[in-house]
Amino acid sequence: MAVPDPSEFRQAVGMLPTGVTVIGAIAASGPAGATASAVCSLSLEPMMMLACLDRGSRTLLALQGADRFSINILGTQQRSAAEVFASKVDQPDKWAAVEWKEHEGVPLVKGCPAYVVCALHDVISAGDHVIITGNVLEVEAAPGDPLVYHGGLFRRLEDETPEPRPDDGQTRT
Ligand SMILES: Cc1cc2nc3c(=O)[nH]c(=O)nc-3n(C[C@H](O)[C@H](O)[C@H](O)COP(=O)(O)O)c2cc1C
Repeated sequence: MAVPDPSEFRQAVGMLPTGVTVIGAIAASGPAGATASAVCSLSLEPMMMLACLDRGSRTLLALQGADRFSINILGTQQRSAAEVFASKVDQPDKWAAVEWKEHEGVPLVKGCPAYVVCALHDVISAGDHVIITGNVLEVEAAPGDPLVYHGGLFRRLEDETPEPRPDDGQTRT
């Protein structure tokens, strides 16, 4: 079997639409945060979350030191936050670009449709990333449309596609 092509791998996984979050933690030097889409729920009992962070992420270091982290689930109006937290500008400049508050020892980006605050549970090595898992300490959700990432682009959800009529796609005689 041929060695898989990295650019085709990127293209293939880019076909998986994801939500967009900012993972945040408070280090001794102040808040740190990174845009992350490799985030999902992991367990209901107990409630746990999972995220995958690049080994080179500065936020990963802050999170490991703080032992807790926030998952700020971004809404459609927060694309600029997604962009700034995906950059490598100094952490204080990232946080200066958004309105935020400290809550239970983690930074929360104001205006998100949902937040999850987690206590760090595992840090599992996986290739060039690490998988972090966290026990949910607090959760908050309000009505709102999530920002979506798909095929390398930020998008918004469209309304549900109507169910096809039973005879759609069939040959009519
Ligand atoms: C839409 C989007 C999703 C991203 N998802 C992840 C992710 O799940 N994990 C990750 O490590 N980096 C992800 N990144 C890249 C990080 O946001 C980027 O490397 C950032 O500069 C890390 O910041 P830090 O070094 O200050 O922690 C994503 C970037 C974008 C634009």
